Amino acid sequence: MTVIFLPPPRLRGAVSVEEALARRRSVRDFSDEPLALEELSQLLWAAYGVSDPRSGFRTAPSAGALYPLEVYAVVGERGAVGAGGFVQAGVYHYDARAHAVELRRPGDARAGLYRASLEQPWVLRAPVSIVFTAVYERTAAVYGERGRVRYVHADLGHAAQNVYLQAAALGLGTVAVGAFRDEEVREVLGLPRGETPVYIMPVGRPLSPYRQPAEGELEEYFEAHRRRARAAAR
Ligand SMILES: Cc1cc2nc3c(=O)[nH]c(=O)nc-3n(C[C@H](O)[C@H](O)[C@H](O)COP(=O)(O)O)c2cc1C
Repeated sequence: MTVIFLPPPRLRGAVSVEEALARRRSVRDFSDEPLALEELSQLLWAAYGVSDPRSGFRTAPSAGALYPLEVYAVVGERGAVGAGGFVQAGVYHYDARAHAVELRRPGDARAGLYRASLEQPWVLRAPVSIVFTAVYERTAAVYGERGRVRYVHADLGHAAQNVYLQAAALGLGTVAVGAFRDEEVREVLGLPRGETPVYIMPVGRPLSPYRQPAEGELEEYFEAHRRRARAAAR
């Protein structure tokens, strides 16, 4: 089995959490440039990596620390590049404890993923997609129906937002894609039984730069709405 041990995540960055929040948008237009392996490493760690070696707890909170999600990287042909050259195209599973990815299925899976996601072009064009799957039983075994219909999806939102913010901080772009045919995604990725795909997040370099609100722009926006709110309160 091919395993790629990822470079360790960086724990310091040039962009504050406030700036990443202000900048974050869904990005759907990407250049052809590959991701650097360091960028892929950082995104996967942000998504669901281990942040406390004593407990094994992760960057995203999880109901009962049960971690029902699995994370995959779908690397396209020339989609990611490391010191040794381009990463082999394929479907990789993220092993958070080893901070490594294992090749589950060789070959460029993007065309299949694109068809499965109702032909959303960004799924085809992004050099890499991060795919979240859920093992509902992990959380339902403890929390029953509430775990299945509520907690697993709350967990997903936390992890996906981490990907959005990390992408924004790295000058990369992503979009949470929820519209796809589950069975087809399962087949394309060769997912094991019991795993349901829940998000596809294409990632790449944005064609147009993020637009951060200018100094005072938000204040102006709030002020306009405050005028309305004050008038309504009279
Ligand atoms: C549950 C969910 C499903 C989504 N599915 C898709 C999708 O299938 N395709 C897509 O292009 N965007 C999808 N989006 C992204 C939304 O369109 C986007 O977040 C929204 O337009 C607000 O824009 P912003 O993310 O830039 O703030 C999804 C977002 C969420 C939260």
